[in-house]
Amino acid sequence: MTDTETKPAVAIGADHAGFPLKAALAEALAAIGHAVLDFGTDGTASVDYPDFAHAVCRAVISGQARFGVLVCGTGIGMSIAANRHPHIRCALVHDATGARLARAHNDANVLALGARMTGPEPALDALRVFLATSYEGGRHARRLAKLTPALEPAR
Ligand code: RB5
Repeated sequence: MTDTETKPAVAIGADHAGFPLKAALAEALAAIGHAVLDFGTDGTASVDYPDFAHAVCRAVISGQARFGVLVCGTGIGMSIAANRHPHIRCALVHDATGARLARAHNDANVLALGARMTGPEPALDALRVFLATSYEGGRHARRLAKLTPALEPAR
């Protein structure tokens, strides 16, 4: 992507454990020119991660944002909640390699990070790579079509 291209809008959300990392990622995204839709939480008071996962996923599904980013303590709860949405492919990632493959092979549209698992620098690297990597299609398209059981070919 060149500097003159519009960068995709990113919806972001976190629970209390993910809040500090979410704030750092949102700031970094805005600094490199992404529109950032921040769905909270806005502090370290205890909240329930599914509320934020669903808000971010709805923004991606509606087209308000091209990608979503979810942060909780481990990233596990956020990724479980996000993947309840049929059109969401949320990848829990711990480094840039996982982020690259989540886009290239899985066409992930939501990135989940664990603030207790991944430090701010690796998390930001992962996010940058996630946004910069295109889906490869090809053999992966057949596999994506099989992700939703109802869409499996009849035997
Ligand atoms: C909150 O303590 C923690 O359970 C949450 O951030 C997340 O790690 C859940 O998967």
